[in-house]
Amino acid sequence: VPSYQHIIVEKQGAKTNVGVITLNRPKALNALCDALMREVSDALDDLEKDKDVGAVIITGSEKAFAAGADIKEMQNNTFAHVYGGNFLNHWNRVAQCKKPVIAAVNGYALGGGCELAMMCDIILAGENAKFGQPEIAIGTIPGAGGTQRLIRSIGKSKAMEMCLTGLPITAQEAEKLGLVSRICAPKELVSEAVKMGEKIASHSKLIVAMCKESVNQAYETTLQEGLLFEKRTFHTTFATDDRKEGMTAFAEKRQPNFTDS
Ligand code: CAA
Repeated sequence: VPSYQHIIVEKQGAKTNVGVITLNRPKALNALCDALMREVSDALDDLEKDKDVGAVIITGSEKAFAAGADIKEMQNNTFAHVYGGNFLNHWNRVAQCKKPVIAAVNGYALGGGCELAMMCDIILAGENAKFGQPEIAIGTIPGAGGTQRLIRSIGKSKAMEMCLTGLPITAQEAEKLGLVSRICAPKELVSEAVKMGEKIASHSKLIVAMCKESVNQAYETTLQEGLLFEKRTFHTTFATDDRKEGMTAFAEKRQPNFTDS
Protein backbone atom coordinates (compact mmCIF):
# COMPACT_ATOMS: atom_id res chain seq x y z
CA VAL A 1 0.00 0.00 0.00
CA PRO A 2 1.60 3.29 -1.06
CA SER A 3 1.76 5.96 1.60
CA TYR A 4 0.83 9.49 0.71
CA GLN A 5 1.62 12.83 2.27
CA HIS A 6 -1.39 14.90 1.24
CA ILE A 7 -4.19 12.41 0.68
CA ILE A 8 -5.71 9.37 2.39
CA VAL A 9 -6.80 6.45 0.22
CA GLU A 10 -9.18 3.76 1.50
CA LYS A 11 -11.65 1.25 0.21
CA GLN A 12 -15.10 1.52 1.78
CA GLY A 13 -18.55 -0.04 1.50
CA ALA A 14 -19.92 -3.42 2.61
CA LYS A 15 -17.93 -5.11 -0.18
CA THR A 16 -14.96 -2.70 0.09
CA ASN A 17 -15.44 -1.90 -3.56
CA VAL A 18 -15.61 1.90 -3.40
CA GLY A 19 -12.31 3.79 -3.46
CA VAL A 20 -12.25 6.92 -1.31
CA ILE A 21 -9.59 9.57 -1.83
CA THR A 22 -9.63 12.15 0.97
CA LEU A 23 -7.69 15.34 0.32
CA ASN A 24 -5.82 15.93 3.54
CA ARG A 25 -3.82 19.15 3.67
CA PRO A 26 -5.81 20.89 6.40
CA LYS A 27 -3.33 23.69 7.06
CA ALA A 28 -3.85 25.03 3.54
CA LEU A 29 -7.58 24.19 3.24
CA ASN A 30 -6.58 21.42 0.83
CA ALA A 31 -4.95 23.82 -1.62
CA LEU A 32 -4.04 21.65 -4.57
CA CYS A 33 -0.26 21.84 -4.67
CA ASP A 34 1.55 19.94 -7.39
CA ALA A 35 2.52 17.09 -5.05
CA LEU A 36 -1.08 16.63 -3.92
CA MET A 37 -2.42 16.36 -7.46
CA ARG A 38 0.35 13.93 -8.39
CA GLU A 39 -0.72 11.77 -5.46
CA VAL A 40 -4.34 11.92 -6.66
CA SER A 41 -3.16 10.74 -10.10
CA ASP A 42 -1.18 7.87 -8.58
CA ALA A 43 -4.15 6.86 -6.40
CA LEU A 44 -6.43 6.86 -9.44
CA ASP A 45 -3.92 4.68 -11.32
CA ASP A 46 -4.09 2.15 -8.47
CA LEU A 47 -7.88 2.28 -8.05
CA GLU A 48 -8.39 1.96 -11.78
CA LYS A 49 -6.21 -1.18 -11.85
CA ASP A 50 -7.99 -2.67 -8.83
CA LYS A 51 -10.55 -5.08 -10.28
CA ASP A 52 -12.75 -4.94 -7.16
CA VAL A 53 -13.24 -1.17 -7.25
CA GLY A 54 -16.39 -0.07 -9.04
CA ALA A 55 -16.47 3.64 -8.19
CA VAL A 56 -14.23 6.29 -6.67
CA ILE A 57 -15.08 9.15 -4.30
CA ILE A 58 -12.98 12.29 -4.01
CA THR A 59 -13.67 14.30 -0.88
CA GLY A 60 -12.01 16.80 1.44
CA SER A 61 -12.79 17.96 4.97
CA GLU A 62 -15.97 19.48 6.40
CA LYS A 63 -14.41 22.92 6.06
CA ALA A 64 -12.90 22.59 2.60
CA PHE A 65 -13.10 20.30 -0.36
CA ALA A 66 -10.25 22.36 -1.80
CA ALA A 67 -9.55 26.12 -1.75
CA GLY A 68 -7.97 26.03 -5.21
CA ALA A 69 -4.59 25.64 -6.80
CA ASP A 70 -1.78 26.49 -4.37
CA ILE A 71 -1.41 30.26 -4.77
CA LYS A 72 1.82 30.46 -2.77
CA GLU A 73 3.39 27.70 -4.87
CA MET A 74 2.60 29.44 -8.16
CA GLN A 75 3.11 33.00 -6.95
CA ASN A 76 6.51 33.44 -8.62
CA ASN A 77 5.92 31.36 -11.74
CA THR A 78 6.68 32.98 -15.09
CA PHE A 79 4.90 32.61 -18.40
CA ALA A 80 7.88 30.74 -19.85
CA HIS A 81 7.79 28.28 -16.94
CA VAL A 82 4.06 27.56 -16.98
CA TYR A 83 3.84 27.43 -20.77
CA GLY A 84 7.00 25.36 -21.10
CA GLY A 85 5.89 22.87 -18.48
CA ASN A 86 2.20 22.91 -19.54
CA PHE A 87 1.34 23.84 -15.94
CA LEU A 88 -1.72 22.01 -14.48
CA ASN A 89 -2.06 19.78 -17.55
CA HIS A 90 -1.63 16.63 -15.48
CA TRP A 91 -4.79 17.45 -13.47
CA ASN A 92 -6.70 16.05 -16.47
CA ARG A 93 -5.96 12.61 -15.10
CA VAL A 94 -9.10 12.95 -12.98
CA ALA A 95 -11.35 13.60 -16.00
CA GLN A 96 -9.76 10.68 -17.82
CA CYS A 97 -10.57 8.05 -15.20
CA LYS A 98 -12.51 5.18 -16.79
CA LYS A 99 -14.31 4.38 -13.55
CA PRO A 100 -17.06 6.67 -12.23
CA VAL A 101 -15.75 9.37 -9.90
CA ILE A 102 -18.03 11.13 -7.42
CA ALA A 103 -17.00 14.41 -5.81
CA ALA A 104 -18.32 14.73 -2.25
CA VAL A 105 -17.99 18.45 -1.53
CA ASN A 106 -18.24 19.99 1.92
CA GLY A 107 -17.14 23.58 2.49
CA TYR A 108 -15.03 25.50 -0.01
CA ALA A 109 -14.72 24.29 -3.59
CA LEU A 110 -12.98 27.33 -5.01
CA GLY A 111 -10.91 27.83 -8.14
CA GLY A 112 -9.12 24.58 -8.85
CA GLY A 113 -11.30 22.98 -6.15
CA CYS A 114 -14.46 23.75 -8.13
CA GLU A 115 -12.68 22.61 -11.30
CA LEU A 116 -11.58 19.36 -9.66
CA ALA A 117 -15.19 18.70 -8.60
CA MET A 118 -16.36 19.37 -12.15
CA MET A 119 -13.83 16.86 -13.53
CA CYS A 120 -15.76 14.23 -11.58
CA ASP A 121 -18.87 12.56 -13.01
CA ILE A 122 -21.28 13.41 -10.21
CA ILE A 123 -21.06 16.12 -7.55
CA LEU A 124 -22.75 15.63 -4.17
CA ALA A 125 -22.70 18.68 -1.93
CA GLY A 126 -22.97 19.19 1.80
CA GLU A 127 -25.39 21.92 2.89
CA ASN A 128 -22.38 24.10 3.73
CA ALA A 129 -20.66 23.79 0.34
CA LYS A 130 -19.55 26.89 -1.58
CA PHE A 131 -18.58 26.74 -5.25
CA GLY A 132 -16.67 29.56 -6.88
CA GLN A 133 -14.09 30.63 -9.44
CA PRO A 134 -12.30 33.47 -7.62
CA GLU A 135 -9.19 33.49 -9.85
CA ILE A 136 -10.18 36.87 -11.32
CA ALA A 137 -9.59 38.45 -7.90
CA ILE A 138 -5.93 37.36 -7.93
CA GLY A 139 -5.24 38.48 -11.47
CA THR A 140 -5.68 35.25 -13.35
CA ILE A 141 -8.44 33.09 -14.83
CA PRO A 142 -9.60 29.52 -14.18
CA GLY A 143 -6.99 27.21 -15.67
CA ALA A 144 -8.31 23.70 -15.14
CA GLY A 145 -11.63 23.75 -16.95
CA GLY A 146 -13.58 26.40 -15.04
CA THR A 147 -14.40 28.60 -18.03
CA GLN A 148 -15.38 25.55 -20.11
CA ARG A 149 -17.09 23.04 -17.82
CA LEU A 150 -19.06 25.58 -15.80
CA ILE A 151 -20.78 26.99 -18.88
CA ARG A 152 -21.80 23.51 -20.04
CA SER A 153 -23.17 22.79 -16.59
CA ILE A 154 -24.99 25.96 -15.55
CA GLY A 155 -25.24 28.05 -18.73
CA LYS A 156 -23.47 31.15 -19.94
CA SER A 157 -24.98 33.91 -17.85
CA LYS A 158 -24.38 32.28 -14.47
CA ALA A 159 -20.95 30.93 -15.51
CA MET A 160 -19.94 34.41 -16.64
CA GLU A 161 -21.22 35.91 -13.40
CA MET A 162 -19.17 33.45 -11.34
CA CYS A 163 -15.98 33.81 -13.40
CA LEU A 164 -16.15 37.60 -13.72
CA THR A 165 -17.27 38.54 -10.20
CA GLY A 166 -15.32 35.77 -8.49
CA LEU A 167 -18.19 35.40 -6.02
CA PRO A 168 -19.15 31.90 -4.86
CA ILE A 169 -22.57 30.25 -4.96
CA THR A 170 -24.15 28.16 -2.21
CA ALA A 171 -24.91 24.44 -2.31
CA GLN A 172 -28.60 25.28 -2.64
CA GLU A 173 -27.96 27.48 -5.68
CA ALA A 174 -25.63 24.88 -7.15
CA GLU A 175 -28.36 22.25 -6.85
CA LYS A 176 -30.95 24.52 -8.45
CA LEU A 177 -28.55 25.20 -11.34
CA GLY A 178 -27.74 21.52 -11.85
CA LEU A 179 -24.06 21.80 -10.88
CA VAL A 180 -24.63 19.27 -8.10
CA SER A 181 -26.93 16.29 -8.24
CA ARG A 182 -28.00 16.33 -4.60
CA ILE A 183 -27.44 18.03 -1.22
CA CYS A 184 -26.75 16.04 1.95
CA ALA A 185 -26.16 16.82 5.60
CA PRO A 186 -22.42 17.54 5.92
CA LYS A 187 -21.83 14.65 8.35
CA GLU A 188 -23.60 12.17 6.08
CA LEU A 189 -22.09 13.37 2.83
CA VAL A 190 -19.30 10.82 2.48
CA SER A 191 -21.46 7.87 3.53
CA GLU A 192 -24.15 8.97 1.04
CA ALA A 193 -21.47 9.16 -1.66
CA VAL A 194 -20.23 5.68 -0.71
CA LYS A 195 -23.81 4.38 -0.89
CA MET A 196 -24.12 5.82 -4.38
CA GLY A 197 -20.72 4.33 -5.27
CA GLU A 198 -21.86 0.91 -3.98
CA LYS A 199 -24.99 1.08 -6.13
CA ILE A 200 -22.88 1.86 -9.20
CA ALA A 201 -20.38 -0.86 -8.24
CA SER A 202 -23.21 -3.42 -8.04
CA HIS A 203 -23.59 -3.20 -11.83
CA SER A 204 -21.26 -4.63 -14.45
CA LYS A 205 -18.05 -2.57 -14.31
CA LEU A 206 -17.58 -3.12 -18.01
CA ILE A 207 -21.01 -1.75 -18.90
CA VAL A 208 -20.69 1.09 -16.39
CA ALA A 209 -17.47 2.21 -18.11
CA MET A 210 -19.19 2.09 -21.50
CA CYS A 211 -22.14 4.09 -20.16
CA LYS A 212 -19.86 6.74 -18.63
CA GLU A 213 -17.98 7.04 -21.90
CA SER A 214 -21.21 7.48 -23.80
CA VAL A 215 -22.62 10.13 -21.46
CA ASN A 216 -19.32 12.00 -21.72
CA GLN A 217 -19.63 12.11 -25.51
CA ALA A 218 -22.42 14.63 -25.00
CA TYR A 219 -19.76 17.04 -23.74
CA GLU A 220 -17.35 16.43 -26.57
CA THR A 221 -19.28 16.33 -29.78
CA THR A 222 -22.39 17.20 -31.78
CA LEU A 223 -25.78 15.59 -31.10
CA GLN A 224 -25.64 13.56 -34.35
CA GLU A 225 -22.18 12.19 -33.59
CA GLY A 226 -23.07 11.61 -29.96
CA LEU A 227 -26.22 9.68 -30.87
CA LEU A 228 -24.22 7.52 -33.27
CA PHE A 229 -21.58 6.87 -30.58
CA GLU A 230 -24.33 5.91 -28.15
CA LYS A 231 -26.04 3.62 -30.64
CA ARG A 232 -22.81 1.79 -31.49
CA THR A 233 -21.88 1.50 -27.81
CA PHE A 234 -25.36 0.16 -27.06
CA HIS A 235 -24.92 -2.37 -29.86
CA THR A 236 -21.52 -3.28 -28.43
CA THR A 237 -23.07 -4.22 -25.08
CA PHE A 238 -24.55 -7.18 -26.99
CA ALA A 239 -21.01 -8.51 -27.42
CA THR A 240 -20.62 -8.88 -23.65
CA ASP A 241 -21.49 -11.69 -21.24
CA ASP A 242 -22.91 -9.19 -18.76
CA ARG A 243 -25.60 -7.95 -21.18
CA LYS A 244 -26.77 -11.55 -21.68
CA GLU A 245 -26.63 -12.24 -17.94
CA GLY A 246 -28.52 -9.04 -17.06
CA MET A 247 -31.42 -9.74 -19.39
CA THR A 248 -31.49 -13.47 -18.58
CA ALA A 249 -31.59 -12.70 -14.85
CA PHE A 250 -34.52 -10.33 -15.43
CA ALA A 251 -36.44 -12.96 -17.39
CA GLU A 252 -35.69 -15.58 -14.71
CA LYS A 253 -36.71 -13.18 -11.92
CA ARG A 254 -33.34 -13.37 -10.13
CA GLN A 255 -30.44 -11.04 -9.38
CA PRO A 256 -27.77 -10.89 -12.11
CA ASN A 257 -24.32 -12.24 -11.45
CA PHE A 258 -22.05 -9.93 -13.42
CA THR A 259 -18.51 -11.01 -14.26
CA ASP A 260 -17.32 -7.73 -15.81
CA SER A 261 -16.82 -9.46 -19.10
N1 CAA B 1 -3.38 28.41 -1.97
C1 CAA B 1 -2.50 28.43 -0.95
N2 CAA B 1 -2.84 28.54 0.34
C2 CAA B 1 -4.14 28.68 0.61
C3 CAA B 1 -5.12 28.68 -0.37
C4 CAA B 1 -4.71 28.54 -1.73
N3 CAA B 1 -5.58 28.50 -2.75
N4 CAA B 1 -6.33 28.85 0.21
C5 CAA B 1 -6.11 28.94 1.54
N5 CAA B 1 -4.78 28.83 1.79
C6 CAA B 1 -4.11 28.88 3.09
C7 CAA B 1 -4.07 30.28 3.64
O1 CAA B 1 -3.00 30.99 3.05
C8 CAA B 1 -3.90 30.04 5.10
O2 CAA B 1 -2.56 29.70 5.33
P1 CAA B 1 -1.76 30.36 6.61
O3 CAA B 1 -2.50 29.82 7.81
O4 CAA B 1 -0.39 29.83 6.45
O5 CAA B 1 -1.90 31.81 6.47
C9 CAA B 1 -4.73 28.78 5.34
O6 CAA B 1 -4.87 28.16 4.06
C10 CAA B 1 -6.11 29.07 5.87
O7 CAA B 1 -6.73 30.00 5.01
P2 CAA B 1 -7.41 31.36 5.52
O8 CAA B 1 -6.74 31.85 6.74
O9 CAA B 1 -7.49 32.29 4.35
O10 CAA B 1 -8.87 30.80 5.88
P3 CAA B 1 -10.25 31.61 5.92
O11 CAA B 1 -11.23 30.68 6.54
O12 CAA B 1 -10.06 32.97 6.50
O13 CAA B 1 -10.63 31.83 4.35
C11 CAA B 1 -10.90 31.14 2.05
C12 CAA B 1 -10.94 30.74 3.54
C13 CAA B 1 -12.03 32.15 1.75
C14 CAA B 1 -11.11 29.88 1.24
C15 CAA B 1 -9.55 31.81 1.71
O14 CAA B 1 -8.52 30.96 2.18
C16 CAA B 1 -9.30 32.03 0.25
O15 CAA B 1 -9.83 32.99 -0.33
N6 CAA B 1 -8.46 31.18 -0.40
C17 CAA B 1 -8.06 31.34 -1.79
C18 CAA B 1 -9.18 30.97 -2.73
C19 CAA B 1 -8.73 31.18 -4.17
O16 CAA B 1 -8.46 32.27 -4.62
N7 CAA B 1 -8.66 30.07 -4.94
C20 CAA B 1 -8.29 30.10 -6.33
C21 CAA B 1 -6.84 29.73 -6.46
S1 CAA B 1 -6.22 29.98 -8.10
C22 CAA B 1 -6.66 28.59 -8.96
O17 CAA B 1 -7.27 27.69 -8.44
C23 CAA B 1 -6.20 28.51 -10.41
C24 CAA B 1 -6.88 27.46 -11.21
O18 CAA B 1 -7.81 27.70 -11.93
C25 CAA B 1 -6.41 26.08 -11.20
